[in-house]
Amino acid sequence: MDDENEDTTERQQRLYSEVLLDHFRNPRNYGSLPSPDIAYEGVNPLCGDRIRIELEIRDNRIKAARFVGDGCAISIAAASLLTELVLDADLDQGAVVSSEKLLSSLKSDIKPSRMKCVLLPLEALRSCVKIYKQPQPGQ
Ligand code: FES
Repeated sequence: MDDENEDTTERQQRLYSEVLLDHFRNPRNYGSLPSPDIAYEGVNPLCGDRIRIELEIRDNRIKAARFVGDGCAISIAAASLLTELVLDADLDQGAVVSSEKLLSSLKSDIKPSRMKCVLLPLEALRSCVKIYKQPQPGQ
């Protein structure tokens, strides 16, 4: 998290919605699952920040989602919000959660240069789903 100047000043209040700030300050579902069915850690190559998403899956639906990581306010808030949005999502429903849905749920004016921050947890989630759905050897 090296964008401290941007993320810890009053600029935050002006740029980011209450929803985003609340999820950053009080992240939901932060931590690890006791025995996740699948997990994937995404890295933003532009800054080195990391978000790991863990999922518990039952009957092809996401029954629990957790995250851990070290990221900026946007990526932490996006990960937190994402773990709420995906609950009970059907893995066969396309992208599970669209980037538009995640972006609109943050209710903030995210600059194009920070879109990678929003997408970091979402891409980790999509990697989880993709790996989970890959046929296992012998199947
Ligand atoms: Fe690294 Fe946002 S600045 S994920």
